[in-house]
Amino acid sequence: MLRVEKLCKEFRNGRGRSAKTVKAVNNLSFQCRSGEIYGLLGPNGAGKTTTLRCLSTLIKPSSGNAWIDKYNVLEHGQMFRSKIGFLTSDMKLDGYFTPDYMMNWFGQLNKMQESQIEQQKKRLFSDLQMTDFIHKKIDELSTGMKQKTAVAISLIHDPEVIIFDEPTNGLDIVTSKAVTDFLVSRAESGKTVIISTHNMTIAEKLCHRFGILVDGELKEEGSLSDIIQGSSWDCLEDVFFSYILPGGDHV
Ligand SMILES: Nc1ncnc2c1ncn2[C@@H]1O[C@H](COP(=O)(O)OP(=O)(O)OP(=O)(O)O)[C@@H](O)[C@H]1O
Ligand SMILES: [Mg+2]
Repeated sequence: MLRVEKLCKEFRNGRGRSAKTVKAVNNLSFQCRSGEIYGLLGPNGAGKTTTLRCLSTLIKPSSGNAWIDKYNVLEHGQMFRSKIGFLTSDMKLDGYFTPDYMMNWFGQLNKMQESQIEQQKKRLFSDLQMTDFIHKKIDELSTGMKQKTAVAISLIHDPEVIIFDEPTNGLDIVTSKAVTDFLVSRAESGKTVIISTHNMTIAEKLCHRFGILVDGELKEEGSLSDIIQGSSWDCLEDVFFSYILPGGDHV
């Protein structure tokens, strides 16, 4: 389980007197349980990537903390990191190498034994339907094939918590389905899964609970029925628009 407590992240942009502080994430608290898929939703600039980068230990929160079991991101960075698989659109794969080679390389970086690496490769390549292209150079792969490769690499160490920032961005519906089916199977096997997405249809189908983030603040939280109960909203999109469209209930 992952527990986020009062997470804040501020950036200072510019210099001298013209410098401005941006509160990218403001007092964010939520939990994601084992076996659950949690969807972090919000418009561009809402603070989703910043939140996920804090949780993946890539950047340090300005205040607040996050916990996986007894480990927290501030005091036990290395241990916390080892329990997380993080996927981001920034992930650059060296085009000269093959998916198979990259998996070996990241497995070794994670100090895994050869037999463990082989076992994980077999499972991930099969689950993500990658076997046709694991010996091709990454430069020669399509966007979807590269994304599957990035997904496999991020999970080589079989982490307890899966954190994916816009995992289906730019994918066709077939590859998108392969990735989302894969996430469902991981959650069913007891993993904790957190994703950010702009795709409300995918979010509604995939996620058990949601957090709607606007200007760094969590505006709504819970399952779809929790969120729409007693309101005039029918679906997640209605809720989302109520916070961002001019004339929306909360604008
Ligand atoms: N490294 C940085 N330095 C300064 N400001 C930043 C930095 N990273 C993000 N921000 C600012 O923090 C805010 C939140 O950005 P973030 O990338 O987390 O949003 P997002 O919800 O992921 O948006 P998108 O849907 O466009 O990916 C924005 O105002 C952004 O300009
Ligand atoms: Mg983002």
